[in-house]
Amino acid sequence: MRDIVIIGHKAMTSGDFSLNDLPGSAGRMDILCRCVSASLFLSFGMRRDVNVHLLLLGEPDPAKIVRFEGMYLRYLNPDERSSGSLIQKALQKEAGEKDIRSTPGVWVRRGDLKTLLKQFEGRTLLYLREDGKDIREIAREIKDPVFILGDHTGVTEEEEKELLEAGAEIISVGPISLHSNHCITLIHNELDRVEAEAGEGLEAEAGTPSVED
Ligand SMILES: C[S@@+](CC[C@H](N)C(=O)[O-])C[C@H]1O[C@@H](n2cnc3c(N)ncnc32)[C@H](O)[C@@H]1O
Repeated sequence: MRDIVIIGHKAMTSGDFSLNDLPGSAGRMDILCRCVSASLFLSFGMRRDVNVHLLLLGEPDPAKIVRFEGMYLRYLNPDERSSGSLIQKALQKEAGEKDIRSTPGVWVRRGDLKTLLKQFEGRTLLYLREDGKDIREIAREIKDPVFILGDHTGVTEEEEKELLEAGAEIISVGPISLHSNHCITLIHNELDRVEAEAGEGLEAEAGTPSVED
């Protein structure tokens, strides 16, 4: 299993935004939408062994977690508007402490970084930062990982402290600061290479996306 957490500091926590303005009124929701796509899509297929957790910290009702589970996902296409629409539907639900399913494979609940870190106790926490240990040096040892990335503003000092206290290791995908979605593609690529070398197949389902992409 690969779990990927993206922290959206400005991302709206109600469904009251326009799909035509994901970067603006939705609080840089476009970044999170691209991360959903990069996490889950293959060419003509979907990564069924990946879950994506969007930690939404923007107005008007923080904090919420929208989770996409590759295993059960339906109705998702690779474009930003498609993931934006599923996030919006999730945010239109009355979120509580427990998960509520909004559409197949998409859940929403109240929760912050602490909530997520508690959920991931016992897993390998890997916090993505430009000056971390090169993922290439440790890719073979990575088992059952949870990757944590920031948005365009990165990760705050307080969040970083929580991550390190929870035992996260800091890893890098290269020396240059990249967009979060590009980092996710590189993470997958490193792990895919290791799995291919070991003769393990990708748990993907061909033909899932309804668009030719
Ligand atoms: C656009 S970057 C954030 C840049 C922001 N200006 C900062 O100073 O943190 C978004 C996120 O991608 C991840 N990231 C970007 N480049 C990376 C790299 N080369 N290695 C590891 N993580 C990276 C980090 O998690 C970062 O928080």
